[in-house]
Amino acid sequence: MTVNKSKPVVESDTLAGQADRHKLYELSVQCAEAEIDFVDVTYQSIRRRTARLLREDFCGTGNVSCEWVKRRKANRALAIDIDAEVLHWGRMHNCPSLTPAQLKRLEFIQADVLKADTQPPDIVAAMNFSYWLFKDRKQLKKYFRRIRKILAADGILFLDAYGGYDSFRPIVEEREIDADGWLFKYTWEQEAYDPITGRLICNIHFDFPDGSRMERAFRYDWRLWTLPEIRELLSEAGFSNVQVYWQGWDDDGEPDGDFQPVDEGEAEAGWICYLTAEK
Ligand SMILES: C[S@@+](CC[C@H](N)C(=O)[O-])C[C@H]1O[C@@H](n2cnc3c(N)ncnc32)[C@H](O)[C@@H]1O
Repeated sequence: MTVNKSKPVVESDTLAGQADRHKLYELSVQCAEAEIDFVDVTYQSIRRRTARLLREDFCGTGNVSCEWVKRRKANRALAIDIDAEVLHWGRMHNCPSLTPAQLKRLEFIQADVLKADTQPPDIVAAMNFSYWLFKDRKQLKKYFRRIRKILAADGILFLDAYGGYDSFRPIVEEREIDADGWLFKYTWEQEAYDPITGRLICNIHFDFPDGSRMERAFRYDWRLWTLPEIRELLSEAGFSNVQVYWQGWDDDGEPDGDFQPVDEGEAEAGWICYLTAEK
């Protein structure tokens, strides 16, 4: 498998050409409010105190960190990404919604998550499967060890993961999005999966009502880690009480977004879960 990491090229007089891929990503993939709700309430229920300092690894546009500093006056966030371009976008587009006081409690840091030497955070959040860019046990364990080392004494690592039998094969999922003045189709494509190495290549495409398309707006070269592997590596890295949180179903048969701690999951076609790992 070869991976083209270049940015998508689209005609500038089309809707795709005028669209902003980071904005479309936030609208279609992220729900910072729900993520922070989960992280905040779960930390409180485990540690019996509110967290203050959150480090968002692989932060991209820093949307989640912005949400964290909006929540409480005592909250501070460190948003870490290796890519200067995406951090710049976050500063330009997400920071203006913050008050000067909130802005003071947020720091964007351009760094490799393996090397970033930050103050000990109460929470490290590594969401949207970004840690799957570590493709073997040695690399992923190194990342988990590093996070355990930098966390506060009662710190907690929050991760997400996805899986199910549909995740092990090429598949395309589409959703119509109508939000914030944007109307487009979001496509998640699992382009290739190699059962020998576990390597997974995925793309996000965006299509617009004028027929234009932003092909491969985002491309991911990951290892598809399973929950037993992730849990074992977290334990081997020294974390305790590694817990999985599973969501239920609403009356329409859709996932209800209410993630509860479980010891057994369901063998569904596709699922998303959260994990916590305590220092
Ligand atoms: C999937 S995106 C971000 C997702 C975001 N956390 C979210 O919740 O939607 C992955 C990000 O990881 C960043 N990244 C990749 N390798 C990194 C590294 N070693 N250290 C820090 N950031 C990294 C990329 O620049 C990219 O912005």
